[in-house]
Amino acid sequence: ALHPVIMAGGSGTRFWPLSRKARPKQFLPLASKSPLLTDTVSRLKGLASVKDTLIVCGPVHAKQAARLVKGLPKANLLVEPVARNTAPAIALAALAVAAKDPEGILVVLPSDHHVADAKGFRQTLTEAARVAASGHLVTLGIKPHRPETGYGYIQVGEPLADGGRQVKAFREKPDPETARRYVESGEFLWNAGIFIFRADVILAAFAEHMPEMTKGLEALRKAVGKRTWAGVLKRVFPKLPSVSIDYGVMEKAKNLAVLPGDFGWSDVGSFAAIPEVRPADAHGNVVSGPESVLVDCKGCVVMGDKRPLALVGLTDMVVVDSGDAVLVVPKDKSQDVRKVVEALKARK
Ligand code: GDD
Ligand code: MG
Repeated sequence: ALHPVIMAGGSGTRFWPLSRKARPKQFLPLASKSPLLTDTVSRLKGLASVKDTLIVCGPVHAKQAARLVKGLPKANLLVEPVARNTAPAIALAALAVAAKDPEGILVVLPSDHHVADAKGFRQTLTEAARVAASGHLVTLGIKPHRPETGYGYIQVGEPLADGGRQVKAFREKPDPETARRYVESGEFLWNAGIFIFRADVILAAFAEHMPEMTKGLEALRKAVGKRTWAGVLKRVFPKLPSVSIDYGVMEKAKNLAVLPGDFGWSDVGSFAAIPEVRPADAHGNVVSGPESVLVDCKGCVVMGDKRPLALVGLTDMVVVDSGDAVLVVPKDKSQDVRKVVEALKARK
């Protein structure tokens, strides 16, 4: 069976004032009427069952996550005592799956991305599962269209016998100059941050490339399903290194494969990405919330809350009302919204 593993432990700051500590991006209805996390699970309908789905997140978000995913068995909610980035989070899920189904296939998904073509996405995942069954660590590759430095880059190699392509190199978050070279070369794809592999294969990769986790993972493995689990988790997990799967495993492993995918992927990185996930009007404005008034506006992102907003003569601006705070920022500066959060923190 396929075991979706939804990583919901992130704490984004680029969607302030909509996102707050208790409500990071995955809990916001950014692409539809439901939160990104709910969309992420619904998208898998027909491919995998909620009964086989694992959610990994921190204690602050566990209740919310459980409430949003209808029918999730209690045991499928894996709660990290502290955030240790994605390698330990994935290791936890791999141990849980391996205890029952050692060669079971994990489909590791960020909880806060958008996919426009859900059917095409499921087809790609089905193919990816086939490639993963033969022992590959499978990544999904997206055709790059800007020298983004916040992504991983995958250098595509020869076709593999069982589908997909070999990976010549995986490079996480290159500097701007390197990213530009990669995009221009035409040899690289963006890493979508979605991974497909067998439980035993990723556990072997952790043992090989992150040996500093071995002792902790062995203690956790012995406690899976036992009464001692909670205690061992609390003692061992905080000692695991805080490293992402990209740096910890993907940059080092030799058995990577990539499936190029074209399913309308967006990681909804900031307010500027909203037009990638929601329809715009004839003037390129994306408006949500109560009826706002836009006069002579172009390319704006307007997110209302309880009251209408009025914008006149604005181009490429973001205006967001959250009831108790208002954000106004040019679209091309929306990355800097995190600086607002920093400034507010510094004030306290
Ligand atoms: N459970 C859990 N615990 N989840 C976590 C943790 C954690 O400690 N840290 C992050 N996550 C979740 C986030 O919520 C997100 O859904 C996902 O894991 C990826 O983490 P990000 O922090 O968003 O990673 P990134 O955006 O810097 O980079 C990754 O995604 C890019 C594509 O969006 C990498 O995989 C890149 O290579 C990739 O290009
Ligand atoms: Mg991300």
